[in-house]
Amino acid sequence: MIRPLQENRFSGQVALVTGGTAGIGEAASLAYAKEGAKVVLVGRNSERGNNVVNVIQNTGGTANFIEADVSQASQVQGFIETTVEKYGRLDIAFNNAGVEGAGGPIHEYPEDEWVKTIDINLKGVWLCMKYQIQQMLNQKPLAFSESKGVIVNMASIAGHVASASPDYCASKHGVVGLTKSAALNYASKGIRVNSVSPASIHTPMFDRFATETPDQVEVWRDSHPIGRIGQPHEVAEAVLWLSSNNTNFITGTSLMIDGGWTAQ
Ligand SMILES: NC(=O)c1ccc[n+]([C@@H]2O[C@H](COP(=O)([O-])OP(=O)(O)OC[C@H]3O[C@@H](n4cnc5c(N)ncnc54)[C@H](OP(=O)(O)O)[C@@H]3O)[C@@H](O)[C@H]2O)c1
Repeated sequence: MIRPLQENRFSGQVALVTGGTAGIGEAASLAYAKEGAKVVLVGRNSERGNNVVNVIQNTGGTANFIEADVSQASQVQGFIETTVEKYGRLDIAFNNAGVEGAGGPIHEYPEDEWVKTIDINLKGVWLCMKYQIQQMLNQKPLAFSESKGVIVNMASIAGHVASASPDYCASKHGVVGLTKSAALNYASKGIRVNSVSPASIHTPMFDRFATETPDQVEVWRDSHPIGRIGQPHEVAEAVLWLSSNNTNFITGTSLMIDGGWTAQ
């Protein structure tokens, strides 16, 4: 039976979004809330986090912000425990928090930059999954669901093809592999795990890495066969789809959201 896309797909569900204070994570937090989920968003900037919460609450949604760094195990364990204390369960996790890395050649790359990017982008996703999966294994699926929990990790086209930023590229290839490993380990235990792989998306991160020279935005735009860069809501829509009951047979994949970039 083909399930129609429903309104309020996530009504009664609890969704956790890391990096929910800006860009793609902000768009996903707003989208989950609009479709009925109770949203917990995590980041380090409490002012931006509370702004997103206000927007959600002002439109009748339910959300709260937890200030935390995804590279610190005790903080990750803490925000997942707080989520479950507050809402009773964790149905969906979008492990999105990430940094772009400084960029530069490997033979000159500073070790502290390397460690920082890997710690946030790769170790952070592993830490999040570690504590999310502990919770998901211990809960029953909701009445209408086949899954005890659903996880979507943030990768990138740089998780599939080379990019000039060595730490970023390695971290995102790591996320794609880690996602497959998790999918394999928990497929029979009721937890689905996928990743998404966007090309350039117009967020604060894009504004940092793509505006160093005047014509850089045009160069990035023209490198996408579709003739433009993407918008955060276009990634959020794909993330929500992967989180929904419409994708019960999908696990271990990485969905390209790239305007044809990797098809070239
Ligand atoms: N934009 C693109 O073109 C693009 C393309 C492919 C993949 N991605 C990936 O998509 C994700 C989101 O990127 P974006 O473009 O939306 O970037 P962004 O606008 O810079 O937002 C990044 C988010 O990650 C959070 N964050 C960063 N470090 C964190 C940490 N240590 N602990 C907790 N939160 C942290 C930030 O929150 P705080 O500042 O509040 O901590 C912010 O909410 C990243 O993983 C990125 O690699 C982006």
